[in-house]
Amino acid sequence: MKILVLGPGAREHAIVLSLLSEDAGHSIVCAPGNAGIAASGVETVDLAFTDPTAVTKYVSDRGFDLVIIGPEAPLVAGVADPLRAGGVPVFGPNADAAQLEGSKAFAKRIMDEAGVPTGRAAKVTDAASAGAVLDDFGAPYVVKADGLAAGKGVLVTEDRDAAIAHVATWAPHGEVLVEEFLDGQEVSLFFFADGRDVVPLTPAQDYKRIFDGDQGPNTGGMGAYSPLPWLPGGTEAFVEEIKQTVAIPTVRQLADEGTPFIGLLYCGLIVTPKGVRVIEFNARFGDPETQVVLARLESPLSAYLLAAAQGELASLPEPTFSDEPAMIVVLASEGYPGDTTTGREITGLDAAAAVTGVHLVHAATARTENGGWIATGGRVLGVVSRGQNFAEARGRAYSAMNEIDLEGGQFRSDIAERVA
Ligand code: AMP
Ligand code: GLY
Repeated sequence: MKILVLGPGAREHAIVLSLLSEDAGHSIVCAPGNAGIAASGVETVDLAFTDPTAVTKYVSDRGFDLVIIGPEAPLVAGVADPLRAGGVPVFGPNADAAQLEGSKAFAKRIMDEAGVPTGRAAKVTDAASAGAVLDDFGAPYVVKADGLAAGKGVLVTEDRDAAIAHVATWAPHGEVLVEEFLDGQEVSLFFFADGRDVVPLTPAQDYKRIFDGDQGPNTGGMGAYSPLPWLPGGTEAFVEEIKQTVAIPTVRQLADEGTPFIGLLYCGLIVTPKGVRVIEFNARFGDPETQVVLARLESPLSAYLLAAAQGELASLPEPTFSDEPAMIVVLASEGYPGDTTTGREITGLDAAAAVTGVHLVHAATARTENGGWIATGGRVLGVVSRGQNFAEARGRAYSAMNEIDLEGGQFRSDIAERVA
């Protein structure tokens, strides 16, 4: 197949590596991609990938059998819409259905209509009226800005004044929700969706905070692992429950409203003592969870993405996953998730990639003139490892990470520790 993958990061690198591993002779282009994706032998193209007009022109000039949209920005910008209208198979929802990620208020309404289990929430319009709502919900306080806020819109805090200040910051920009605090382990579970039917992938756990022990500010994700041996009832029963109570009702609700969801339904879940609750939906593959989920995927990814794009998921069996665990440790630049220092040299990548059971995915790197590497962003790259068990996978991931040098580089040392 001729496949176009849109997006610049490690998630797209993982998708590309999974497509290459099919050995199906796909011709893959990634736009814009990154230097790591190019080093994997894939053509990268400098394209305004969040601009529907630019992408549509490129696709009609070059011709593709499948377009895979990685990040949320092009989805919310409506890149899928003209492609789908023009008959191109696209994996990624139209802008209206992408509101499931783009607007927390929209997502809450869909969940309510579909009867999906989620925490209580209330809209607040200004700081003056927020106090009474916060007191009603009690501490810890959860305050969420509507709309894409690059991870900065959500505040979870014990500090009532900070919660009110967060409302004051975001209320002028749109709706703000106060939510019931949900206590428990977080799970990310993805489903392929074709507008009507869904096919599950397998659960992973993300590490959102910057520091060990889940301390410090939220990030895009500093690590992940899969499977989750502690899931109540085991993986199979858990996946089936979420499919029946969350994924199918959500996709059917969107279809009934005339905004069918075709793409990747990311269910962000918390396992509470009272049962599983949805804390958020995303309309795309999670990063870095995708890197570990696809590292375990044994079925051909392209078959599912194409079937979803063509409304034919019901014809496919559920994909299978290796029993071997996988994990990823993310390397970030100094200062991340605040102001980051970039442009620094990275060394040791070849030695890291040579560790048994390890491969690297690049998020923000560039080549130097003499063939070296520099870091160009916050999250720089990830070390993905597999092993017969988590102890082995952890040993491999961290010995690879220890081969890599980046001045001021940060990574968590406790990824998958709770399961090893
Ligand atoms: P979100 O962008 O909605 O996923 O929120 C970012 C992070 O905030 C989540 O990954 C959770 O760690 C935390 N969070 C969000 N909503 C809640 C909630 N209702 N209760 C507890 N933690 C939450
Ligand atoms: N790792 C969290 C996300 O992709 O939203």
